[in-house]
Amino acid sequence: MDKNNVIDMITDEMVEELNKQLNSELYSYYLYLAMAAYFDSINLKGFANWMKVQAKEEETHALKFYEHIVERGGRVKLYQINQPPSEWKTPLDVFEAAYSHETEVTRRIYSILELAQQKRDHATVNMLQWFISEQVEEEASVSSIVQKLRLIGEHIGGLLIMDKELGERKPS
Ligand code: FEO
Repeated sequence: MDKNNVIDMITDEMVEELNKQLNSELYSYYLYLAMAAYFDSINLKGFANWMKVQAKEEETHALKFYEHIVERGGRVKLYQINQPPSEWKTPLDVFEAAYSHETEVTRRIYSILELAQQKRDHATVNMLQWFISEQVEEEASVSSIVQKLRLIGEHIGGLLIMDKELGERKPS
C-alpha cells in the first residue's frame, strides 16, 4: 500500500520530518547539558541545576516524537547528534544562546505543523499543539532569566542570589 495516497495516514515525508525533530530535541538535550557543564566549571551550581533539569525536559520531548512515530506506524531513525559549543563568555551569554536556540526550535515546530496541516495529518497536528504551548512557556522562562541577568550585569551578589533561585528548579 502506498501510504502517501491515504488521507490521515502518516506519510514518509512526515515521518522524516518527525525523525529530524527527534534529533533536534536530542541536540537540545546535549546543548543544555553542555551549558550545565559550563556552569559547573565556574562553580555556579544553581545555574548548572537549572540546565540539567532543562536537559531532562528535552529528553522527554525527544521521546514524545519517538512514541508518536511508533504509534503511527512509522520507523524511528536516530541520526548523529551535532556537537554543542562548550564555552561561553558569561552567564548572560549562555542564556542569550538558549533563547536564540528556543526561537529556532519554535520556528521548526511551526514548519512541521504547517506540513502536517497540508498533509491533513490530524493526529500529528494534535500532537504538535502540545509543543506549541510548550515553546511559549520555554521562550518566556528563558527570556525572563535573560532580562534578570541584564539587570544584574557584573554584580556578583546578584548573580549568587540568582544561582540560589535557579538551584531550586525541580524536574516537572
Ligand atoms: Fe524541546 Fe526546548 O524545546
